[in-house]
Formats: sequence, C-alpha cells, structure tokens
Amino acid sequence: MSIEQLEAIAQAMVAPGKGIIAIDESTNTIAKRFAAVNVPNSEENRRAYREMLLTAPNLGEHISGAILYDETLRQSTRAGVPFTKVMMDNGILPGIKVDKGPQSLAGFPGEVVTEGLDGLRERLNEYAKLGAKFAKWRAVITIGEDSPSGTCIEANCHALARYAALCQEAGIVPMVEPEVLMDGDHDLEVCYDVTEATLRSLFGSLYEQNVMLEGTILKASMVISGKGCAEQADVDEVAEATVRCLKAAVPAAIPGIVFLSGGQSDEQATAHLNAMNQIGPHPWPLSFSYGRAMQSAALKLWAKDMAKNFAEAQKTVSMRAKENGLAALGQWQKAA
Ligand code: 13P
Repeated sequence: MSIEQLEAIAQAMVAPGKGIIAIDESTNTIAKRFAAVNVPNSEENRRAYREMLLTAPNLGEHISGAILYDETLRQSTRAGVPFTKVMMDNGILPGIKVDKGPQSLAGFPGEVVTEGLDGLRERLNEYAKLGAKFAKWRAVITIGEDSPSGTCIEANCHALARYAALCQEAGIVPMVEPEVLMDGDHDLEVCYDVTEATLRSLFGSLYEQNVMLEGTILKASMVISGKGCAEQADVDEVAEATVRCLKAAVPAAIPGIVFLSGGQSDEQATAHLNAMNQIGPHPWPLSFSYGRAMQSAALKLWAKDMAKNFAEAQKTVSMRAKENGLAALGQWQKAA
C-alpha cells in the first residue's frame, strides 16, 4: 500500500465532525465492565453487546472508525453478517487493538512496558486480510513520586515506533497511544511536563524507525489534574494546557490527534474536546477515540434488559457520538 493510501485512511479517521469509538476491551477488561452491571462475561454476551453498539442507527454520521478486539474482528451479527461488513457499509473503518498489554518493567518497580512485538508482522498481515484498516497500541505512563523514569518512557516509545513501522509495512494505519494515566495526586503542571517529555520521545522514536507521520494517528491523553489532586483544573485550563503541550511536541505532519477519555465523565470528556476546538484553529484536527465516555451510559441501559432496552441503548450511543462529533467542531453546547 502506498503512503497516499495510508494518508487517505488517516484523514478519513479524523474527517470533520467525526471520531472513533473504542470498543477494543480485552476479554479481561470487558469482564470488569460487565461485572459492574451484572452481565456474565460469555462470548455470546460480548458479541451481542458489540452488535448493539456497531449497528446503532446513524452511528456512521459521527463515527469514522471503531477499534475492535481480536475476537470481535472475527464475529458477525446475529443474522450472520460479519461485523467488518456492517461497519464498512455504514462508513465505519474497522480498527484492531494489537498490543498484548502492559507488563512490569524489570528493574523499575511500579512501571510498565507494553508487550506484543513478537509475531506482530504475521498478526498484522492476517488482520489486514480480515479487513482492518488501522491498529492501536497503548503504552501506559504512570505518574508517581519518582516516576515515570526516562527508561520507562524510552522503552515504551521504542515499542510504539517498532509497532507503527510494522503497521505501515502491512498497509495498516498505526494509531500510537502513549497514555499518561490520571491516577495520582499530581497537578496540571506535572501532567504537562510528563506528557511533553513522552510525546517528544515518541516522535524521536518514530523518526528513528522511519515511520511516515502522514500515515499515523496520535491517540493522546489530555493534560489534566491527577484524580487525587486537591485543586482540579477547570475545563478552559485543561483545554489550554493540552493544546499548548501538543503544539510544543507534535509535528504538523500528523493528520490528526484523537483523545482517550481515561476515566473522565462523559460530559467532561466532551466539554474538554469542545473547549480545545473553540480555541483553534490548530495544526491538526482534534477529535475523540473514547471508550468509556462513549459506552458507559449505553452499557448500563443494555445490561438492565438486553432485549427491551436494545433500541434505547443504541440511541444513547448514537447521541454520545453526535455530541462528541459536535465537540470535534467546537460546536457542542452543554444541556441547560
Ligand atoms: P477510554 O476512553 O475509556 O480511556 O478508552 C480509550 C482507549 O481505547 C484506551 O486505550
């Protein structure tokens, strides 16, 4: 695949007023989400839940792509239509999570490095055949008393860049995600410094590994106060600091930046994105790739009565897509 084709996919992912829905929870992670709403974690429940989300009416109006887990990429609707076909028919690009999750970083207690490079070339080639157009790899950076270490940042960014190069070789757009966690009592400034150092390291590594930025999407965490910080920065402060940090560290050649929600409430995630777009224009479109902030309300409804609340849960997820699509344009308005 040529760089022009990768670039076209990347640009479609961040088309004006559109963003990504992340439904790529591993079987362990979805188990936690299901347990919170008393749903047994069976393969059929996972399939049925993802069908509810992916077939929500008009989802494609504000959703350009969905990130799936390996199992989901291979599943079909109850009527037997592969999810990848339903998605492409609705203008939603199939994406795939390809990392194998974070593991303890030897020699650095409390820090983690994401694994999954072994055999990745073969897996990517199979995913491309199954219809995946883009992939995701999430690195986790934890802020603590003495962390993150430079070693942790470097190891994670090196792996992200190796992954991104392999994706492009396979004709898949890499979404590179260095998530700086919200856990901790650090303030906005500390989050800014860690995020900037991480992004600088990431783009250094991408350059070293010959990754074409024009065919790469950045999935970023916002510059935000730690969850346990006594003084929480307000919406405008988060928006200003996040945009300032991105401008300092992210090359303009990147086709777009999408954010994770990371534990923010639905409304916070939307309000922050909207505020950032209201202080534009920026060098790149800023949009969303939310997991929890797209799904949580719909999951609760669906879990209460899967059959009876099916349509209502679909309406809820379509509404979240619409609100976040408006925020990606800076046109969202808080409900009175
Ligand atoms: P959240 O929006 O729930 O943080 O999930 C997004 C995601 O895909 C993290 O990798």
